[in-house]
Amino acid sequence: MRVLGIETSCDETGVAIYDGDAGLLGHELYSQIAVHSEYGGVVPELASRDHVRKLIPLIDKLIKSTQSISAIDAVAFTSGPGLIGALLVGACVGRALAYAWKCPAIGVHHMEGHLLAPLLEPEPPEFPFVALLVSGGHTQLVKVDGIGHYTLLGESLDDAAGEAFDKAAKMMDLDYPGGPHIAKLAEKGTPGRFQFPRPMTDRPGLDFSFSGLKTFTLNTISEHAQENGLPDDQCCADIAHAFQEAVVDTLVIKCRRALQQTGYKTLIIAGGVSANKRLREKLETALQKIQSEVFYARPEFCTDNGAMIAFAGYQRLKAGEADDLSVIVRPRWPMESLEPIVGG
Ligand code: KG4
Ligand code: ZN
Repeated sequence: MRVLGIETSCDETGVAIYDGDAGLLGHELYSQIAVHSEYGGVVPELASRDHVRKLIPLIDKLIKSTQSISAIDAVAFTSGPGLIGALLVGACVGRALAYAWKCPAIGVHHMEGHLLAPLLEPEPPEFPFVALLVSGGHTQLVKVDGIGHYTLLGESLDDAAGEAFDKAAKMMDLDYPGGPHIAKLAEKGTPGRFQFPRPMTDRPGLDFSFSGLKTFTLNTISEHAQENGLPDDQCCADIAHAFQEAVVDTLVIKCRRALQQTGYKTLIIAGGVSANKRLREKLETALQKIQSEVFYARPEFCTDNGAMIAFAGYQRLKAGEADDLSVIVRPRWPMESLEPIVGG
């Protein structure tokens, strides 16, 4: 079975074709970063309009490059969670294409897409595992016993990890999205010059809180400004370093705890923040010590993309699932409400 996947939940237009026998045949991505960067964050209406402009040409390009027009057996599109207008673009186009091609269509959960993305790699992890989902909108630890067998172990009580990266970056006048910029700046930072807290690690449990780190960043910048004037480039690098270490250490501590609690030996990390090199490094070191292993997707499949949607859609279609003709989007959609796939 050959599935066209469409992702339009936020600010990336992503399309891909996944084939059950041959694997990923091709994928295309258009990022709206330039459209939103002058506003310091995603403007929903601009996002929807840009998806309208870019989605069909992108599908056209993908189909031509993979020579697959006659061979598509199903269409999968992100139907939530995300920005309602942006989701509607992908859902309407996906549903209409499937109708025209007389093939099934399926709405995919964006976070299930992220969660399954590491399975697209050549040496995929096996179930069961613990998943750390870290994106711009979510920070969750999930016990995964199969596709659709999800138990939420813990989540952020306020800001998501990616959101904290983005907000801290804005305070230092870095471009949106801030995560990659903070990570780059942090490489030049002086370890130990600033000490940031590791929120909620001194008490039991697997929940997170990142909004305090944002305030801590702001206070560090203002205290520095009062005493020595606005932070220079080196000072920003030192703050970025301390901030990143704090987020990464907090995530590592909770991941280790989740593995100990479940008794599982495999962790996967997924979502935009899982592209962070320092997080990968520190998890690898920490997990080696407890005879466990961490898996992740290649960086382009950590952030939003069409491949993860084609792949997740394929898994559910293969199990016999498909949507009816209605176009349904779900801006809020708890992942735990997903059904396990038959036989999964
Ligand atoms: O998964 P994603 O592309 O979109 C959502 O579903 O939210 O994640 C985007 C988030 C942004 O907050 C971005 O700053 C963060 O992922 N991000 C990173 C890195 N690359 C992207 N955060 C830290 N380090 C990175 N290298
Ligand atoms: Zn995402």
